[in-house]
Amino acid sequence: MKPNHQFRRMRRLSLLFAAAASLAMALPVVATPLPRVVSAHGRHMLLVDGQPFLVLAAQVNNSSAWPAMLPEVWPAMDALQANTVQVPIAWEQVEPTEGHFDFSFLDTLVHQAREHRVRLVLLWFATWKNNGPAYAPAWVKLDNRRFPRVLKKDGDTLDSLSPFAASTLSADRTAFVALMKHLRGIDGDDHTVIMVQVENESGTYGTDRDYSAAGDRLLQSPVPAAVLAMVGHRADSLASVSGKHAGTWAGVFGKDAAEFSYAWAIAHYVDQVAAAGKAAYDLPMYANVALRDPFHPGPPGGYSSGGPTDNVLGIWRAAAPALDFVAPDIYLPEYAKYTTVLDRYSRPDNPLFVAETGSAAPYARYLFAALGHGAIGFSPFGMDYTGYSNWPLGAHKVDADTLKPFALGYALLRPIAALVAKADFEGRAWGVSEPEQAHTQQIDLGDWIAQIGYGLPQFGMPEAKGNPTPQGGALIVRLGRDEYLVAGCHARVSFRPSVRNAGKHALFERVEEGRYVDGQWQFLRVWNGDQTDYGLNLTSEPQWLRVKLATY
Ligand code: DGJ
Repeated sequence: MKPNHQFRRMRRLSLLFAAAASLAMALPVVATPLPRVVSAHGRHMLLVDGQPFLVLAAQVNNSSAWPAMLPEVWPAMDALQANTVQVPIAWEQVEPTEGHFDFSFLDTLVHQAREHRVRLVLLWFATWKNNGPAYAPAWVKLDNRRFPRVLKKDGDTLDSLSPFAASTLSADRTAFVALMKHLRGIDGDDHTVIMVQVENESGTYGTDRDYSAAGDRLLQSPVPAAVLAMVGHRADSLASVSGKHAGTWAGVFGKDAAEFSYAWAIAHYVDQVAAAGKAAYDLPMYANVALRDPFHPGPPGGYSSGGPTDNVLGIWRAAAPALDFVAPDIYLPEYAKYTTVLDRYSRPDNPLFVAETGSAAPYARYLFAALGHGAIGFSPFGMDYTGYSNWPLGAHKVDADTLKPFALGYALLRPIAALVAKADFEGRAWGVSEPEQAHTQQIDLGDWIAQIGYGLPQFGMPEAKGNPTPQGGALIVRLGRDEYLVAGCHARVSFRPSVRNAGKHALFERVEEGRYVDGQWQFLRVWNGDQTDYGLNLTSEPQWLRVKLATY
């Protein structure tokens, strides 16, 4: 090439590069979308960075949210294979003096979570932490004039802040907005924090409502149209209690008016905190629930009155549109109660998220039933090595052995988390957990019936006796026509034709064991003979099976 040709070519190339560079500068930077909850056809899914995300979380102990405690947190999360960690952010910690904020713990937490490749859910411990203001700063909890407590009927006060005090709402909201602004500044591009819980188990023990003048006035004021719209439409008790369709709280709800109006007041308060926080940084937000017994609740005040218990879920959904959902804290080990709670909190208008559950082994299996109810996530509580255990609510102690049953579920789910989240959203996933009394279950998959047996050996066809303690669970995802992904533990899965294939017999055309790596199926071997003759036996080994069914 002649020198002047070479020169012209280089000049052309440099012009090309300059044009490309200026084009790149002119193009807007395409940010990954913020985490959000999407709903369609009565089902729900969390999207993180635009992708389906199943929250396989664990929550740290209440007093573990300090830099010095984090070294006791990460090894537990690693052992669990959690993809998300729930950590409190306490009002007293971030605003010890009014108007002076300190977010240094949050900075440390976010930085270390990124190093450990986990996402975070922040828990805003403020006006309510299990009914009381223990986590409010001293300047709040010592000033009962500016931040009044709830009044009982007899005039005594309770250690629960009144939701009717504008001064309390304003102070809480200001701090929460400061938190969300700071979070947007440090994490707005990375989305390490994927959701925020607003308050913690709000409500009040020891009374059905706040007997302050403002509480009295609310009772005599009209029920908002959004609540009336719920009456008669929902499966919660709002549908059954009311004969009237308009009027005051007292007039419409009669004996339930005290609790229902109080629930409205707290929900409206939490909504205003959440809405202001979202205006600063628009992450999914939710409230968690101190549940009442699903079958024998007793009177309000015996449980946390005004909180989003199952009987007032409709009021909360109407009063708090800024909340993406209301999430149960499930410390009820019995199968009937646990699954009833899952039923009641998974609704077309309420995505299910098990915000807390017990750390004892029997709770681990409920991951599968939660997924069977379309849950967007699951989170055992108190999972760190700081030496605390909340027995008898949870495990006797929290050590490597305590984590094992939860780790097995997460080992199974983590590689297929996005696939399961999407399948659940599309109505193609089923999950069950072992009951205490029955030792077999059936799942109607449409074309097939799956039979799940518990406490069976891997060989032979004896009657299912149940595991020594209930610990089994199974997940089935439809991948295509007659093709399913099966995973689980301590259970046997078999299939038979449904009525659609009446008169025919089922057979396994092929059962592949493999792994999902970066979302891709990697074949390991074919199961046949002893491994399939009696059904598919799922043990304590994390195994994934792709099953092709046929008839003869
Ligand atoms: C439910 C609360 O939300 C948690 O913060 C914790 O107090 C547990 N109860 C009990 O360990």
